[in-house]
Amino acid sequence: MLSVTNIDASYGHAKVLHDISLEVNSGEMVFIAGRNGAGKTTLLKSIAGFLKPSTGSITFDGKSIMELPAEKIALSGIRYVFQDKRVFSQLTVKENLEIAAYPVKVSIADAIGRVVSIYPKIEKFLNLRAGTLSGGQRQILLIGRALIGDPKLLLIDEPTEGLAAGTINDILNVLSSMKGKVSMLIVEQNLSVVGMLADKVYMMKEGKIVQEVTDKAQMNNKIQLEQCL
Ligand SMILES: Nc1ncnc2c1ncn2[C@@H]1O[C@H](COP(=O)(O)OP(=O)(O)OP(=O)(O)O)[C@@H](O)[C@H]1O
Ligand SMILES: [Mg+2]
Repeated sequence: MLSVTNIDASYGHAKVLHDISLEVNSGEMVFIAGRNGAGKTTLLKSIAGFLKPSTGSITFDGKSIMELPAEKIALSGIRYVFQDKRVFSQLTVKENLEIAAYPVKVSIADAIGRVVSIYPKIEKFLNLRAGTLSGGQRQILLIGRALIGDPKLLLIDEPTEGLAAGTINDILNVLSSMKGKVSMLIVEQNLSVVGMLADKVYMMKEGKIVQEVTDKAQMNNKIQLEQCL
């Protein structure tokens, strides 16, 4: 469904992505792992249309999306959960969902239902200001918000970053409950999380994909994965 083929991308004169190719098939949960500064976020930004690659191609459901502006890419069914975990903190959780429901013409009841389906506890927080949520709850709100309007592919940047071990478990539960229902391309540095959930992993180093791992035993071998980086 998503094919990235031989893309390069730069910030000004600084080339950050070098000849990146990857594939996400329908229903797959694919991970990108790599150290800080490897170019993981830059790759997601390039797919979502916030940075235009200088060469290569990106197709989604057989159509080229590389020339489209970010908002058109979002409306074509690709949603991006940013690394910064930013919510509208002065607004309530319900209002945060309303903002996401409007552009995709979904009723607020349906939008809430979507988030409740992955995290029933959210019902208790609907009238609280989003700024009062814990880091993990905020991350779940952002993932739930991205699901409104039935996207086909989610791009999620470091969902467990900065979270305590117990909270990482909540994120794991949410992501595994979504597995197979929506395709996902997830950036993640926690290789235990990767091993538990991935159908495929791309190991990224210095702007290049250095290895593609599809073998389950290899994915669960953190030491072997680390060695690629
Ligand atoms: N807006 C920008 N302008 C210029 N250079 C940038 C910009 N954003 C990122 N970079 C540089 O591009 C490289 C890749 O950054 P990127 O944020 O994609 O890495 P990352 O793998 O997501 O890292 P992290 O794990 O820390 O989030 C880094 O060298 C970074 O300094
Ligand atoms: Mg990043």
